[in-house]
Amino acid sequence: MLCTTLWSTILASSACFTIASATGLHVDRSRRLVGVDALCGTAIDPSTIAAFRGNARNQPSTSSILARRADNSSVPLPIDVYMQILSADGTEEGGNISDETIGKQFTVLNEAFLHVGFQFRVVDIIRTINERWYHNLTPGSSIEEEVTVLRKGGNATLNVYTMGALNTSTQAWGSVPSELQYHSQYDGVTINGTAFLGGSDPVYGLGRSMIHEVGHWFGLYHTFAYGCEKSYDYVDDTPIENQPIALGGCDVGRDSCPDQPGLDLVHNYMSYSSDECRDSFTPGQVQRMREQMAKWRGIVYPGIVVGDIPDDV
Ligand SMILES: *[C@@H]1O[C@H](CO)[C@@H](O)[C@H](O)[C@H]1NC(C)=O
Ligand SMILES: *[C@@H]1O[C@H](CO)[C@@H](O)[C@H](O)[C@H]1NC(C)=O
Ligand SMILES: *[C@@H]1O[C@H](CO)[C@@H](O)[C@H](O)[C@H]1NC(C)=O
Ligand SMILES: *[C@@H]1O[C@H](CO)[C@@H](O)[C@H](O)[C@H]1NC(C)=O
Ligand SMILES: *[C@@H]1O[C@H](CO)[C@@H](O)[C@H](O)[C@H]1NC(C)=O
Ligand SMILES: [Zn+2]
Repeated sequence: MLCTTLWSTILASSACFTIASATGLHVDRSRRLVGVDALCGTAIDPSTIAAFRGNARNQPSTSSILARRADNSSVPLPIDVYMQILSADGTEEGGNISDETIGKQFTVLNEAFLHVGFQFRVVDIIRTINERWYHNLTPGSSIEEEVTVLRKGGNATLNVYTMGALNTSTQAWGSVPSELQYHSQYDGVTINGTAFLGGSDPVYGLGRSMIHEVGHWFGLYHTFAYGCEKSYDYVDDTPIENQPIALGGCDVGRDSCPDQPGLDLVHNYMSYSSDECRDSFTPGQVQRMREQMAKWRGIVYPGIVVGDIPDDV
């Protein structure tokens, strides 16, 4: 059962965004909790988010975005994927996932990313039996550190880990590309098997959690923010959306920031709506994904000029 309190991320701890003089792991951990998706997490302190992301925004205008989107190439760029299945004991109940289910999950993912211009190919499925890892893999934990030994490939390679962590509300998380500069070993996305395609979660079993997390891996943030004052996702065409965020569901017509233009994008993949409700990225998100992939992962979509990509400020 899903709980009924507010959703959020586990960004709650203000320490998450303390970027002090500390070097290495501390800063790394603090910065990397951006794309953490939890059920029933605690509330976020907006000032810590603002401090982290910076207050000044310098978004390109829509026309400059369109001007840069010059190429209409329909050839998708390939992304190599290592599918890392953790399990307690190799059984499906213990977290193992069949090749067939993995194939179906990637069909769903590839359909969502075709118009973005990328396609995923699973180069290997690596199944690891480790009960301790399977039941305790949470972001920022020592187990996560241990699991980094599994990672394959480089900045352009996607590692997808599945687990079944207990005693945590964190269901999935994904790193954003700019994190590569701090801690590339954590690059990738991690999803509880309950939210994998075919998983037992009553509203997240259609495979869209993977799309959402890979959206983070391509550089997207959530469509919702932390207040109605401003946007935090570096995308122009996603209306500002406040918390509280409806739990799952498909609250069409919701307008959580009535003084700001636009309704909440309840159908967006980067929302927390239920899987059956989530079906789209905006053009601005598509553009940002192409830019972030070019800038950080070296996969350059035709027409993207790395030197023209605005910094996130
Ligand atoms: C892309 O498509 C648009 C609209 O159809 C067209 O105006 C433009 O010339 C095309 N660009 C290229 C590079 O083919
Ligand atoms: C996990 O599932 C795969 C595919 O069904 C199967 O080949 C494998 O033997 C199972 N167990 C382990 C430990 O990989
Ligand atoms: C994660 O998976 C475990 C094992 O299937 C399950 O008990 C737990 O409820 C899941 N957690 C979330 C937040 O989905
Ligand atoms: C989860 O919490 C329960 C109850 O406190 C405890 O018995 C169990 O060992 C914990 N499991 C893990 C994997 O930490
Ligand atoms: C991966 O990205 C980081 C951050 O941009 C960069 O420092 C590093 O050199 C890149 N690695 C490779 C092999 O290009
Ligand atoms: Zn997320």
